[in-house]
Amino acid sequence: MPKISVGRDQEDRDEHGLKGTGIIGKHLVGENEEAHKANPIYFDLARPHVMGIFGKRGTGKSYSMGTIAEEIQSSDVADNLSTVIIDSMGIYWSMKHPNNRSISILEDWDIEPKGYDANVYIPEGKTREFEKKEMPYDGTFTLNPGEFTAQEWAMAFDFDLSSQQGILLERVISKLKEKRGSDYTLEDIVQAAKKFDFPKEIEEGLVNRFRAAEDWGVFGEESTIEKFTERAEMSIVDVSVFGELSSGWSVRSLIVGLMAKRILKKRMTARRIEEIEEMDNISQNEMPITWMFIDEAHEFLPAKGKTPATDPLLKWVKIGREPGVSLVLATQQPAKLHPNALSQCDIILSHRLTAKQDINALGEIMQTYMRHDIGHYIDALPDQPGTGLILDDNSERIYPIQMRPRKSWHAGGTPDAFED
Ligand SMILES: Nc1ncnc2c1ncn2[C@@H]1O[C@H](COP(=O)(O)OP(=O)(O)OP(=O)(O)O)[C@@H](O)[C@H]1O
Ligand SMILES: [Mg+2]
Repeated sequence: MPKISVGRDQEDRDEHGLKGTGIIGKHLVGENEEAHKANPIYFDLARPHVMGIFGKRGTGKSYSMGTIAEEIQSSDVADNLSTVIIDSMGIYWSMKHPNNRSISILEDWDIEPKGYDANVYIPEGKTREFEKKEMPYDGTFTLNPGEFTAQEWAMAFDFDLSSQQGILLERVISKLKEKRGSDYTLEDIVQAAKKFDFPKEIEEGLVNRFRAAEDWGVFGEESTIEKFTERAEMSIVDVSVFGELSSGWSVRSLIVGLMAKRILKKRMTARRIEEIEEMDNISQNEMPITWMFIDEAHEFLPAKGKTPATDPLLKWVKIGREPGVSLVLATQQPAKLHPNALSQCDIILSHRLTAKQDINALGEIMQTYMRHDIGHYIDALPDQPGTGLILDDNSERIYPIQMRPRKSWHAGGTPDAFED
């Protein structure tokens, strides 16, 4: 019986077998209550992928992301990988702790609970908030405001570049870039805005936005985000402090956009060197292949409208295979995710979905090798957490799956009001 491995093409199977894979769950055979767990499902970690994780509320998306991150950390190619989790909900810190909550389920799977060596990074200006709430972290990061374009600021502040404020912003940024390159602060932007002869209310409107951006606590002299891509490390970028307001998602998108740009650029340079080294038979890569996990991905890459992360992430999706960057995007509603991202996914894990538009959005991709309507496969899934469908473009197969229980603690569970 050949092993089931998703994300791996025949050539890699022949050459590498199961090296560079991780076990994410078991194949579900049979339908609904009759379904039983069969063979393990191996997941390719060695090649770049674009993966979508979908499912309605509470079906296991965030949990499954953690499972894949665990597999990367424990894999036999971990030294050539790095993991970055964009944590908008502040739930992944708990991966440091073993999953002692689910001992009996883990025993059933013959898995030991295990905590991981994750590094939690928070915005430098938010340390007091974390300390006040006694939430531990390992390090901080900042972004250099000089690295953003006028267009990116405008998207973050949600106004048009062709508006009066937009025109002022464009002039301010181009003046600063001309004079200082990328070496200027938020205060410099404010001061520069005051020097242009724009109507007072336009100037004040813009100045107020940059003053508000100071409170985001994320800007500093330099962008200190290189540390997120250290070899064999898992970095959790905790951006939960910005809240649920739209400005919260704007600042998260600025962060993710800049990271995506930087990492891709570095990987592209590294790839060239690696290719030369490959010719000389040197096997360790220059810079690890980076896996970026983005929960609530529709906020960063929406189907409608644009965020500062949209273009950089679309670039990952489009050309990431070549330089070696992997993206895992989770959302409740695939129909709300940018259609180009959706269509470029080569692996999809879909937990239970019920909304027609979301099922249709899935059905439109990968339909060529499906024997039935996607709805049929979803209906056949037993109704328990962690079940889903894997659609694998690499092997052109579809597998019902029971995702394995987590080795590390999952902090995203639904709270209840029952007493212990
Ligand atoms: N593979 C699994 N094995 C066992 N339990 C699971 C599994 N996947 C999910 N669960 C359970 O389901 C709960 C909800 O999962 P999770 O937090 O991942 O939901 P979600 O899909 O991210 O929901 P939301 O859309 O609200 O963010 C988890 O706390 C866990 O108890
Ligand atoms: Mg979730």
